[in-house]
Amino acid sequence: MTQNKDTPLSSQIAALTGSVQTQCLDEQARSEALDAARGLLAALESPVERVIQDVVMNSPVLMALRMGVQLGIFTQISQNPECGASSPDIAKKSGASLILVDQVTRLLAATGYIKQDGVQHFKPSPLTMVMADPIMEATTRFCFEVGNLCASKAPEFFRKNNNQFPSSAKDTPFQLGFNTNMEYFEWLGHNPDLAKDFQQWMTLKQKTTLNWVDWFDIQQLIIDGSNSKPEDVLLVDVGGGEGHYLRQFQEKFPETPGRLILQDLPQVVSTIENLPPGIELTPHDFFTPQPVKGARTYFMHWILHDWSDEHCRSILANIVDAMEPGYSRLVIHESILPDMHCHVPSACLSIMMMVQVAAFERSEKQWRDLLASVGLTNVKFYQPPGSGEGIVVAIK
Ligand SMILES: C[S@@+](CC[C@H](N)C(=O)[O-])C[C@H]1O[C@@H](n2cnc3c(N)ncnc32)[C@H](O)[C@@H]1O
Repeated sequence: MTQNKDTPLSSQIAALTGSVQTQCLDEQARSEALDAARGLLAALESPVERVIQDVVMNSPVLMALRMGVQLGIFTQISQNPECGASSPDIAKKSGASLILVDQVTRLLAATGYIKQDGVQHFKPSPLTMVMADPIMEATTRFCFEVGNLCASKAPEFFRKNNNQFPSSAKDTPFQLGFNTNMEYFEWLGHNPDLAKDFQQWMTLKQKTTLNWVDWFDIQQLIIDGSNSKPEDVLLVDVGGGEGHYLRQFQEKFPETPGRLILQDLPQVVSTIENLPPGIELTPHDFFTPQPVKGARTYFMHWILHDWSDEHCRSILANIVDAMEPGYSRLVIHESILPDMHCHVPSACLSIMMMVQVAAFERSEKQWRDLLASVGLTNVKFYQPPGSGEGIVVAIK
């Protein structure tokens, strides 16, 4: 791209945007360019504009997204992309008042979540298509009803406890917000609609570029050297929710011998449908002894970040007891927080864990210390580019 020095900055940026839209960048290049583009935005936006955006605008935007799901705005606009939908159509179909629909669509259009092509008329933008996905609808409902409530109750909670880290998973902004004594997962067991939304949310990461089967060397680190008899267990997904990690694994390595076992709480296991053949489903509470002994891999994604070190030690001790020395691998897929310059998603996730379950994301040192405390010292760390996520592998 050649630019005359007299070309206005806005045209230079527009030209660069056009050229990026036609390029196919690898993940490393995309992530570096994204960081640079954020720098450009920060250079252009005045600090006060940025603060007003975060402090004043974020909550109406979040509310409009939640209402967009509730009123079926995204699904209706994306159903027929060529025609789109009008505010009166949306009001008629949802039963909402037209002026409410206008309020919500105005902000959704201003933020790019829908594309305005006439007065009270909208077509889908790429963001509309994402929001219309049932997984994203469930995620929006859950994050608004639960996550947002916990975050908004946090200042009151911390004021009352003298601004101390929550000392128990039974006493967090979550309990204050929902006026309950139950822990988070116990409460979900009594709220099946939100529990279903929660499990849908857990599958969201499959839609991003961050997919462990694509960046983690499963062949070398798990499959090579594993026992090859069909009755041997290749992978146990502990607290695996609806089993999407095992599904991905099976799709990527369909010919690999060995059993694949999905474990979760009975109330979760009983709701799982359409599990492909070859994935075994077992109810298991990970605070009790691990029934599958000597598996090649014990996998956990987003499990230990839900629990304090003390609880993690109980969960880990049950797995370590079942591991075959030198053979079994403990594979923990979680954030690995850097000591400096943490990515926004990991920092947000850590706050969410604090206000919902009195837990937090861990740094490499915190992972090493935790694993050493249950006798695991042979520990390695793997991270894809541009992310705070990673995989910790430990061998007994
Ligand atoms: C944050 S979700 C992660 C689910 C899944 N690993 C994923 O990444 O999509 C935590 C999971 O732990 C499960 N869980 C919570 N307490 C458990 C327990 N005591 N025993 C087994 N599973 C449990 C929950 O039901 C939920 O599916």
